[in-house]
Amino acid sequence: MSSNRGLFITIEGGEGVGKSTNIDFIARRLKQQAIPFILTREPGGTPLAEDIRQLLLTPREEGVAENTELLLMFAARAQHIAEVIEPALARGEWVVCDRFTDATFAYQGGGRGIPMAKIADLEQWVQGDLRPDFTVLLDAPVEVGMSRASQRGALDRFEQEQKVFFESVREAYLAMSEKHASRYRVVDASQTLDRVQESLSTVIDEMIAKGKA
Ligand SMILES: Nc1ncnc2c1ncn2[C@@H]1O[C@H](COP(=O)(O)OP(=O)(O)OP(=O)(O)O)[C@@H](O)[C@H]1O
Ligand SMILES: [Mg+2]
Repeated sequence: MSSNRGLFITIEGGEGVGKSTNIDFIARRLKQQAIPFILTREPGGTPLAEDIRQLLLTPREEGVAENTELLLMFAARAQHIAEVIEPALARGEWVVCDRFTDATFAYQGGGRGIPMAKIADLEQWVQGDLRPDFTVLLDAPVEVGMSRASQRGALDRFEQEQKVFFESVREAYLAMSEKHASRYRVVDASQTLDRVQESLSTVIDEMIAKGKA
């Protein structure tokens, strides 16, 4: 049965590195191959989890305690896994997710300074054995992502952070890419989009080969 499970693919990286753009590219490639898949995102991916996303992203006067932020992330994730991710994987569909738990390690761990071990406890508690099969890290210097993202409108609660916060996020991602090297594929996202997608194509070919195995 497990051989019929879909692959779980997560796309990670800081603000504006090109996650959404490249998820579209992955979707086009999977469609060409007639691979059944769903696209989803975190925090969010179900109506309830999208409501939690709004709570998390909307700037507010009241300070948000680090643990509140962390637990809301995992509350949204628990709902997303139960309602969307697990059912799709069980049906044999691939799940391509714009950010997942590694973003919690990067932002709440690296950025906010919550101990990684505490996040790992929640990961185990909420996810059991569920981990991505592949994680694509789109890596670029913080300024590159920030200048790409700056075209957009008002900044959300995370985008309002200082550069040093995003430097810590990037470092945490790079550390995870070494710790979990077997599932991580790091793509230099500072290149032109054509170059990024050339690198990504190799990764997608590898995923497709694994999906057929
Ligand atoms: N390699 C690239 N070179 C130049 N511009 C790019 C590249 N990749 C993406 N962009 C542009 O940068 C902007 C941000 O890209 P995108 O929205 O895909 O990033 P994101 O990682 O999804 O951002 P967010 O973190 O806000 O969700 C878009 O205008 C996109 O067209
Ligand atoms: Mg995006």
